[in-house]
Amino acid sequence: MSSETPASVETPETKASRASRKDDHVRLASAQQTEGPRRTDFDDLEFVHHALSGTNPELVDLSVELGEWTWPTPFYVNGMTGGTETTAKINRDLAIAAAETGLPMACGSMSVALDDAEAAKGFTVIREENPDGFVMGNLGAGRSADDARRAVELLNADALQLHINPVQETAMPEGTRDFSTWLSGLEDIVAACPVPVVVKEVGFGLSRRTLRLLADIGVQYADVSGAGGTDFLRIENDRSPADDFSMLTGFGQSALACLLDAPSEWTTETTMDDGVSNRVLLASGGVRNPYDVVKALACGARAVGVAGTFLQTVLDHGPDGLVDLVRTWQTQTSALFALLGAQRSTDLTATDLLTRGRLGEFARLRGID
Ligand code: FNR
Repeated sequence: MSSETPASVETPETKASRASRKDDHVRLASAQQTEGPRRTDFDDLEFVHHALSGTNPELVDLSVELGEWTWPTPFYVNGMTGGTETTAKINRDLAIAAAETGLPMACGSMSVALDDAEAAKGFTVIREENPDGFVMGNLGAGRSADDARRAVELLNADALQLHINPVQETAMPEGTRDFSTWLSGLEDIVAACPVPVVVKEVGFGLSRRTLRLLADIGVQYADVSGAGGTDFLRIENDRSPADDFSMLTGFGQSALACLLDAPSEWTTETTMDDGVSNRVLLASGGVRNPYDVVKALACGARAVGVAGTFLQTVLDHGPDGLVDLVRTWQTQTSALFALLGAQRSTDLTATDLLTRGRLGEFARLRGID
């Protein structure tokens, strides 16, 4: 991610500081991954067990329909990085694994690539390694519709992720604190972008109100990207102890809370203006294993994004390690579908769910059954 400064004020120093920010993000996100397990809202969701309701994993079809797209698995590599030597290698490794396993993949914020041909190679490597795969570009709110078109073109992207990250920007030393034009800017991009736009948070969640606003401006895909996984408040606080915002610790909602609270515009069959398809709700934030994937699907996500867990896998074990992990996740996800009696991911929404603890309290306070 980046603070989305206009290209006209680019200087060699800001380029250098952008590069070090990208590397800092990877280093600090990875440090969080190695801290060991912690309790999250995923642990507060349970399935009522029905011992005679299972099916055969061989009958399970893991592919998911997302509006005009069909993905082979219900999980994907979420947007992370690019633009420096270290992060180009990470993108390369992620792309090799994505190509091998058919996983859709997003890159990190491409704003640096729009202004700097050298930095752009750290993103285009994804297309080189995965010429036929489903690839998403990534930009932040605050960029122009023309920037969005250029980002899509650079990567020959199938979709463009647009991240809205106001909590991170507030705590980020180089961040903007003026969010007043983000909604109208998003509307311009959605109208002009040659491929579908996926609006996402970066680990603080999209509330019911935010999802309604996105529906109002014609957004068809949203990734709630909630709290409980990679924590960008901590990352930015670690980068700038002199302007510490740790008072905001715990701010935002988890992916499961956002899914349970999502408005009907995103959860029921609606015909879009073009008459073609429904809105598609994606989820991410703190997904550690296939059970978390299945829980998010059961709460209404159509597919699930994974960032920190896959990042750590390529850092520790390279692309082959991620290929192995994805294959294991595919087999285990099929096994969990069978255990829960689901042949397709949409069948999971018929399971019996219980919420406890913090997630249960959120559901009660928001009047969710
Ligand atoms: C991210 N994320 C992110 N998102 C985005 O839209 N643009 C970006 O440039 C970045 N950059 C980035 C760097 C690193 C190192 C990480 C780990 C993550 C956020 C990511 O897509 C996701 O929303 C959050 O990380 C929450 O998911 P996990 O990490 O808990 O699975």
